[in-house]
Amino acid sequence: MPERAWGFNSPLAHVSDVPSKQASTAVPLHPHLAGRWSPRGFARDYALSDDELQALLEAARWTPSCANTQPWRFIVGHRGDATFERIVENLKSYNKEWTPLASVLMVVCAQLTDDDGNPQRWAEYDTGQAIATMTVQASELGLHVHQMGGLEVEAIQEVFAIAEQFTPITVVAVGRFDPDADISDKLAERERRPRERLSVEELLLTDPNR
Ligand SMILES: Cc1cc2nc3c(=O)[nH]c(=O)nc-3n(C[C@H](O)[C@H](O)[C@H](O)COP(=O)(O)O)c2cc1C
Repeated sequence: MPERAWGFNSPLAHVSDVPSKQASTAVPLHPHLAGRWSPRGFARDYALSDDELQALLEAARWTPSCANTQPWRFIVGHRGDATFERIVENLKSYNKEWTPLASVLMVVCAQLTDDDGNPQRWAEYDTGQAIATMTVQASELGLHVHQMGGLEVEAIQEVFAIAEQFTPITVVAVGRFDPDADISDKLAERERRPRERLSVEELLLTDPNR
């Protein structure tokens, strides 16, 4: 079946605010999955409401996890507060340019060992799922999430006095996309670039015993 972009006639079509960002799929997907993307051009005057933040954290909270261990933890900074500034300061340089535009920055930590010091083998997997769930909820609220692996892990651990059991995994930026955001031409060009993925066929490993 040829790939095409679905969902433009759906009541949720607003979720892809840049048409080139709409996922091209062989069969229809939920608009929040097809329309989600990771912008850098956030609206610098948009503040997340308490209810919006609560909804994002509730979405993460209700994510499944191995043996219900719930290994995810978050440090939340709002644009304008000291926590937000400290998070920006401890990102890799390529993430420092655009993250000040976000409404909220969150350090996402995972509890990699249990209370007895034993490894929690699925903690990073579970924490990634929590952010995936949060991302879908953000889309429902008309918000975007941009995840980052480009952070200074040791510095963040120290600055926020994060207990040894927990390891910073990512920082996520949350906000409203602004097509006229104050970002460099280079980043603006990336904002419009179509999203690309491997094909479904490429994702399937073959069973040699078949
Ligand atoms: C674990 C992880 C780490 C990432 N690190 C960064 C980063 O440091 N800086 C950045 O600008 N984007 C980062 N991204 C965003 C990805 O580049 C982006 O999700 C990917 O290109 C797919 O684009 P899409 O989310 O718009 O579909 C990261 C995403 C994930 C999931």
